[in-house]
Amino acid sequence: MRDADFSDDLVKILFTEEQISQRVDELAAEIARDYEGKDLLLVGVLKGAVMVMADLSRALDRHVTMDWMAVSSYGSGTKSSGVVRILKDLDTDIHDKHVLIVDEIIDTGLTLSWLASNLSSRHPASVEVATLLRKPEALSMPVNVKYVGWDIPNEFVVGYGLDYNERYRNMRSVATLAPHVYS
Ligand code: PRP
Repeated sequence: MRDADFSDDLVKILFTEEQISQRVDELAAEIARDYEGKDLLLVGVLKGAVMVMADLSRALDRHVTMDWMAVSSYGSGTKSSGVVRILKDLDTDIHDKHVLIVDEIIDTGLTLSWLASNLSSRHPASVEVATLLRKPEALSMPVNVKYVGWDIPNEFVVGYGLDYNERYRNMRSVATLAPHVYS
């Protein structure tokens, strides 16, 4: 499906497929430089990070290993409690490994701050965070993020892994959702 087929549901394209691809390549180059000579494990946060993991890992001109976690906040969809439960844990032991958590968006920061601290407690060699998008105005928890694609306003965005009611993840661009879709 092409993004034009979704256009009735969208207000504005924030980042096109080309812009995302270029930015992911830039982040990959930075990561490759920083981790030169070190083994690197990319940890994708399901489900939204699937697209950025797929593109970032292939843009890295080096060996990497990949693993996945699925997490969910307690409560009815709100993340205010900051309590996260693990739905799917890593398959691998990260002791002494260099871990880079990869996600597509940091909103309040609760998920990533919890995840980074959970993984740090497993005694890896290092834990860093890479995200394509971050909403600085929505942050309620400090998250030490080493790699950021773009900071964006506090608006509802979909596409490139980001969903509304599980839809729009398969858009190639990132766009703001029209109010008629969710009101
Ligand atoms: C999204 C995103 C982050 C988290 C960010 O996942 O992938 O993991 O929310 O929000 P926060 O900074 O407020 O914690 P979501 O829980 O929507 O699950 P999904 O990836 O399966 O869509």
